[in-house]
Amino acid sequence: MDQGVETNEDVKIGLLTGEDAWEKFRELSVEASRDFPEIFSDKLTPRNYNDVESWKYLTRERTAETPLRVTWLQAAWKDNELIGMLRAYRDMSSGTGNVRLADFYLRPSLHGRGIGTRLFASMMKELRKDSTVKKVALIAPASQTSAVKLYREFGFRKRKTLEPLLPAFAKHEEILMTRNLHK
Ligand SMILES: CC(C)(COP(=O)(O)OP(=O)(O)OC[C@H]1O[C@@H](n2cnc3c(N)ncnc32)[C@H](O)[C@@H]1OP(=O)(O)O)[C@@H](O)C(=O)NCCC(=O)NCCS
Repeated sequence: MDQGVETNEDVKIGLLTGEDAWEKFRELSVEASRDFPEIFSDKLTPRNYNDVESWKYLTRERTAETPLRVTWLQAAWKDNELIGMLRAYRDMSSGTGNVRLADFYLRPSLHGRGIGTRLFASMMKELRKDSTVKKVALIAPASQTSAVKLYREFGFRKRKTLEPLLPAFAKHEEILMTRNLHK
């Protein structure tokens, strides 16, 4: 079930929740990895596609271990079709106040109309409602200049360039960007 919070033109933005959220997330992840394999290919091997537990894990709102919400999935719909997404998850490894953004994707035919900006703004608004969230971080390929520009406009600043895990990945330079949420 979706909880649309905002409509503008023909695109609706809101949190994607409910039992089948993981399936919708998987569908759009397939599109994302087909359109931008250099950014999203890590998730989608045929084996991963059928690993239902992993998809549920990536979209789980809550866990038994903590009363805190652990995942937010912001989505964009056009004509009742899912066309964009942005995921945030609580980074338990580096403190519960830290949240990471990931899986920012919009169908290419709809780029450049401000929909990505609206998705991002909705996510920031949602995260601000949770006073336990202190710091938001993301990792962006340096080559995605319009995404990086968008992050800067939302107050994110580059903290460092990440070393590639393997020399073969060296052409995909990635940067870590962060911002404090309540400042
Ligand atoms: C990143 C992404 C989700 C942004 O979505 P988007 O809807 O195209 O973004 P916006 O339209 O809000 O903003 C992008 C550009 O459009 C411009 N724009 C915003 N509103 C606009 C409007 N109403 N009309 C025309 N242009 C507009 C922005 O100024 C921005 O310009 P820039 O390219 O010079 O930076 C999308 O480009 C995408 O899916 N990219 C591929 C995956 C990716 O890179 N993900 C991020 C990995 S870090």
